[in-house]
Amino acid sequence: MPILRSAFIALSRNAALRSFSERSSLGRRMSSRFVAGMQIEEVLRAAEELNRQGIAVTLDSLGESVTRADEARRSADIYHRLIDAIQERKLNANVSVKLSQMGLELDPSLAHEIAAELVQHAAQAGTFVRIDMEGSEFTQTTIDMVRELHARPGHAGHVGIVIQAYLFRSAQDIAQLTQDGIRIRLCKGAYKEPASIAFPEKSDVDQNYVKLMKMLLTSGIFHGIATHDEAMIAATKQFVAEQGLDPRSFEFQMLYGIRRDLQTALVREGYGMRVYVPFGTEWYPYFMRRLAERPANVLFLARNFFRK
Ligand code: FDA
Repeated sequence: MPILRSAFIALSRNAALRSFSERSSLGRRMSSRFVAGMQIEEVLRAAEELNRQGIAVTLDSLGESVTRADEARRSADIYHRLIDAIQERKLNANVSVKLSQMGLELDPSLAHEIAAELVQHAAQAGTFVRIDMEGSEFTQTTIDMVRELHARPGHAGHVGIVIQAYLFRSAQDIAQLTQDGIRIRLCKGAYKEPASIAFPEKSDVDQNYVKLMKMLLTSGIFHGIATHDEAMIAATKQFVAEQGLDPRSFEFQMLYGIRRDLQTALVREGYGMRVYVPFGTEWYPYFMRRLAERPANVLFLARNFFRK
């Protein structure tokens, strides 16, 4: 399985396959399992439907690794429209943003400026910007940028970050970020990282995930526990019960289209649940990372495809 994971992650960076897939109707049909649509209106409808089921959402306009400043600005415009729509339609929603989509690899100061404008807009609209975490080449810059944005007047509580349990450094990062009062989404990590900086074995990642979850839930800050892993969810619930914590003092988070049964079950049990809802035409790298996490998805998609 680790070989398949690496293969899908390598494919997620293949430009020719990306361009071909994103243009083909077959590719779009396949991606619809994990992507809420190509247009803003479609993702807003998906958000309203999830809200009706008692599920909060975070909206993601797909795209990453932009190579031109005008592309970064265009990506930011979509996020500004999403923030306006969240306010106008009173959605229980926030947004998730990748700094590489805002031009981080091109010009870090441009990405920083765009992110600052988004956080300011979110603060005015009473919502929140989650800065997603990408590959380890960006970890430190992302942390530095989020800390700087969070420290600006009026921004506290309107910007947060993601920490990946597979990285050795994460406990230290959490200690520093929680001291600043920054909200964190804890996930296992979706990129390919070397064994010099990240746990190669799933059992070690899981063990670290549980340790970090406990650090977060006792920090007094509202965090997101993002996982579909029933063992991680059970460990979280057990810790909440043992510590006598309020089940609403944090939220579980899951991805659109994955374990919908668990999403609704947790809501019924009284836990907060937020679903990450991606949309847009640039779905290919996101989709391939979902296949990397669970190569059996290829068979699942193929079966569903031929059933239609
Ligand atoms: P794990 O991979 O161990 O899977 C446990 C079980 O969950 C599987 O057995 C299967 O049942 C189900 N499952 C998991 N993935 C599935 C899939 N793709 N399809 C079908 N079933 C699946 N990563 C990152 O590096 N940076 C980020 O910013 C984010 N952001 C983020 C937000 C949210 C809300 C979530 C839920 C996840 C992320 N991730 C992420 C992705 C994360 O790092 C990780 O790759 C996936 O969540 C898969 O890990 P699990 O914790 O689900 O466990």
